Parts: sequence; structure tokens; C-alpha cells
Amino acid sequence: MRPLILIGGGGHCKSVIEVAESAGYSILGILDMLEDVGNEVLPGHKIIGTDDDIPAYVYKAEFVITIGFIKNPTIRIKLFNKVKEAGGKLATVVASTAYVSKYATIGEGTVVMHNAFVNAGAQIGNNVIINTFVNIEHDAYISDQCHISTGTMVNGDCKIGERVFIGSQSVLANCISIGEDIVVGSGSVVRKSISEKGIYAGNPAIIKVRAK
Ligand SMILES: CC(C)(COP(=O)(O)OP(=O)(O)OC[C@H]1O[C@@H](n2cnc3c(N)ncnc32)[C@H](O)[C@@H]1OP(=O)(O)O)[C@@H](O)C(=O)NCCC(=O)NCCS
Repeated sequence: MRPLILIGGGGHCKSVIEVAESAGYSILGILDMLEDVGNEVLPGHKIIGTDDDIPAYVYKAEFVITIGFIKNPTIRIKLFNKVKEAGGKLATVVASTAYVSKYATIGEGTVVMHNAFVNAGAQIGNNVIINTFVNIEHDAYISDQCHISTGTMVNGDCKIGERVFIGSQSVLANCISIGEDIVVGSGSVVRKSISEKGIYAGNPAIIKVRAK
């Protein structure tokens, strides 16, 4: 079993524990806030230190970032970079029930959660969350630091820029391009490519809040 350190001890961490154990990792512990050290996130899974302890585990385990994000990936990116700067290895974790085509690629620090499907020719970047029941269709391209949340359909040939959040059960029509730093609300249907930074929602998805 491969040893793994999780960074971030909230709700998303619980889901990643489920994924990582199914994928054959042995979880050494969780890093979070100093005041939470000693607390259990799930039975048998304790917070054993803070992110300042990353260097102590570089030769003992791989790492994965287990803080989720909806609107702002800044903390996830900061922690990802902190692991890299310490010389740590980010794990690519694929749930036992997920299906990833042998013709797809998945980056470091990325987690593919239970019952997700990644089809042939898809490319997924680093530190991405492919959440439970997501479908990534053929030749779709998901850039670094994205979160494709539960039950979303990313259809064939879509291209998603860095730091994008796609809310639960959204649908992206074929060949849609989504620019960087965009948030798509849950249940949206994105039928045309979008590039202006901001929050989009609805069917068809339109911009609701423009980035400042
Ligand atoms: C998109 C989202 C982040 C926006 O949250 P917010 O910043 O608090 O924004 P607000 O709720 O103030 O919404 C702004 C506008 O967008 C609309 N809107 C927001 N989300 C919407 C949605 N999913 N569908 C339709 N309209 C939506 C609001 O009605 C509001 O419109 P108005 O200004 O005309 O009244 C949030 O609504 C959302 O969808 N979160 C994702 C939840 C999710 O998928 N979680 C899964 C985690 S795994």
C-alpha cells in the first residue's frame, strides 16, 4: 500500500479518504490547522500536523490536496505549490469505481472520484477534482486547478481553462470552450463558449456576476 498524506481536513477530505483507500493508498494522516491537531476527520484518520510539516513527510509519502473549492482555488494552489517547493510528490488518485480510459491522461495531484468516467483522448491537468459521477467525454481538455463537481457532463472536445469551477449536474455541449477563472453555477447548461471572467448560471448559462 502506498503511503499518502492528505492536506485539508474538511468535508472534501472525507470523500477523498473514501477514494484513496479504494485506490490502495494507506493514509498516514491529515495536515490542517494547528488548533485541530489530534482531531479525527473520520474514525482512524487524525490530523497529525499542519502544512508546515510537509517537508517531514517528503520521503515517507505522496501528497494530495483535500481542501475543496467552489469560487476560489487560491488555497489549493498555494498548498500544491508548497508541496512542490518542498520536493514532495503529488499523487494521482483514481477511485476503484471510476473508469479512466487508457487513452486519457491525468495530471499530478488530481483526484478522480467514485463513479466518474474519463473517456478516450481526454486530458486532465494537475490538482484537478473530477468529482463523484462526473462524465468527461472523448478529447475533452481540463486545465490545471479546476473542480468539475458532482454529476457534471463535459461533452466531447470541450476545453476548460485554468482555475474553473463547474457546479453540480451542469452540462457542457460538445466543443464548448470555457476561459480561465470562470464559475458555472450548479445545474447550468453551457451551450456556447464563454471567456469573460465571472459567474455564469442557468439554461442557457449567461453571465450573472462579472469579475471585478
Ligand atoms: C454559482 C454559485 C457559486 C454562486 O453563488 P453566489 O456567489 O453566492 O451567488 P448568488 O447566489 O448571489 O447568485 C448570483 C446570481 O446568480 C444566480 N444563480 C446562482 N447560482 C445559480 C444557479 N445554479 N442556477 C441559476 N441561477 C443561479 C442567482 O439567482 C443570482 O441571480 P440574480 O442576481 O439575478 O438574483 C452558487 O450558486 C453555486 O451554484 N454553487 C455551486 C454548488 C455546487 O455545485 N456544489 C457542489 C460542490 S461538490
